[in-house]
Amino acid sequence: MADKTQRSDVTLDTIVSLCKRRGIIFPGSDIYGGLQGTFDYGPIGAELKRNVKDAWWRAMVQDRFDIEGIDSCLLLHPSVWKASGHVENFTDPLCDSLGPSRKRYRADHIEEAECARFLVIDVTDEAAPRTLEAEIWAPTKKKAKEFFQQWWEKALGLEGRRVKLEEVEGSRTTGRFSPDDGGRLTEPRMFNLMLTTTLGPVEESSAKVYLRPETAQGIFINFDNARTTARRKLPFGIAQQGKSFRNEITPRNFIFRTREFEQMEMEFFCKPVEFCQTGERTDMEWFEYWRNERLDWFVRLGINRENLRFYDHPKEKLSHYSRGTTDIEYLYPIGWQELEGIAHRGNFDLTQHMEHSGKDLRYFDPEANTHYVPYVIEPAVGVDRTVLAFLCDAYREEEVKDRKRVVLALHKHLAPIKAAVLPLLANRPELVERAHKLAADLKRHMNAVYDDTGAIGKLYRRQDEIGTPWCITVDVESLDDQAVTIRERDSMEQRRVPIDRVVEVLRADLEAAAPAPAAQ
Ligand code: GAP
Repeated sequence: MADKTQRSDVTLDTIVSLCKRRGIIFPGSDIYGGLQGTFDYGPIGAELKRNVKDAWWRAMVQDRFDIEGIDSCLLLHPSVWKASGHVENFTDPLCDSLGPSRKRYRADHIEEAECARFLVIDVTDEAAPRTLEAEIWAPTKKKAKEFFQQWWEKALGLEGRRVKLEEVEGSRTTGRFSPDDGGRLTEPRMFNLMLTTTLGPVEESSAKVYLRPETAQGIFINFDNARTTARRKLPFGIAQQGKSFRNEITPRNFIFRTREFEQMEMEFFCKPVEFCQTGERTDMEWFEYWRNERLDWFVRLGINRENLRFYDHPKEKLSHYSRGTTDIEYLYPIGWQELEGIAHRGNFDLTQHMEHSGKDLRYFDPEANTHYVPYVIEPAVGVDRTVLAFLCDAYREEEVKDRKRVVLALHKHLAPIKAAVLPLLANRPELVERAHKLAADLKRHMNAVYDDTGAIGKLYRRQDEIGTPWCITVDVESLDDQAVTIRERDSMEQRRVPIDRVVEVLRADLEAAAPAPAAQ
């Protein structure tokens, strides 16, 4: 469960401002004032996101012998969401402040606090003080004053008047109140998080469909198609990546919780323990395997192990069908929060789809000579939350020659740009020509850029801030010695390399940095 441990090395505001400044992530629909809960990836962010997705796909599909990848639709038959339980149960409790802010909250996100009720008394006319119809709930008089000044004064028409706040004796109690204006909250009401749209040209006669709130169901409904065409026996997995939509009540914390986001999910179908042959991993052993493997994946891509931890959901809080759920939590600047969930879903989903579709999705086990519904272990992670974790973990501020240097020490395979070729003098055509040619040669093997839009110091700073592992300068000496200088992002060390060996050297460095595949 999330707690409030704070990081001292980076704040969310720092990451947000770096993202905006360097073209990583922008607020969605920015020129129209934004659309809450949406974010757009800019030129650098699009590369980073793509690299994160590729790294996951490589580790989960291409490097393995036991997982197939698919790409299902965003729009699924409405019965899918009845079968999965989303129509009935995919809800959050919503409540509103009765105070002037009218802010809306997820009731389960509001913490209980000990508060007292404060009366608002207009004492402008001392002889005839007037108590207003207002209830401010706050832990202290100071906090009540803050609420009053920010929200209530104007709403009650008390600007310019003398006002006294008075604690009502005996009113102190522990409860949930608006953390923004101290107002009482409405009773929670359940709110379905699925977004809907209509299919068909005439709205009145068209069918209501849901935008998928998770990618997982697209996998379950393709279980039989994928298994038979890939000629798979248990255990094996099906993975997919793609957009999901949730009408989150309180999207917040940048790309941590948004209304449109991407997921990377894998459903690993395995034998229930009673059908396992000697030496085969049981379902619980696969659950354990995926917990560890998924955490390792983040570490292999450079996340500090100390910023990751497991949170095992207590047995009494598990869904009735789940035999275990573990979150991998990351220490974001907002505290420990869920990054990925790994769930043992039993045979719930396939059984539900069998019932609702009337199709037999059981597996025939040739060794046990019987049919049964496989068990499923599901590692499910958000792309955007993963990007945010990589950004926060890579962010460094250093002092170099009395100046602040900001570096994004991303794993080389995640770095949006691998190499930047910079001519030392933009007004020397021979240098420019060589630099262009080198950038073009590199581009055939990795994402490389050419840049001559500033002094060398400024160009280094820009590349450091977006995490480019190598900057290559072509200088006047290059014309004589046919060599260039390669500067390493993290150490800032420089080495002189013959220009015609640069591609080979950087390719070898990149290859050497490739994360090892998982033990299977
Ligand atoms: N199929 C299971 C499933 O969807 P989930 O815990 O609801 O489980 C999986 O979602 C992951 O998707 C989360 O761990 C998180 O990384 C990401 N995610 C969920 N809701 C999100 C949101 N509103 N914004 C960004 N990422 C989200």
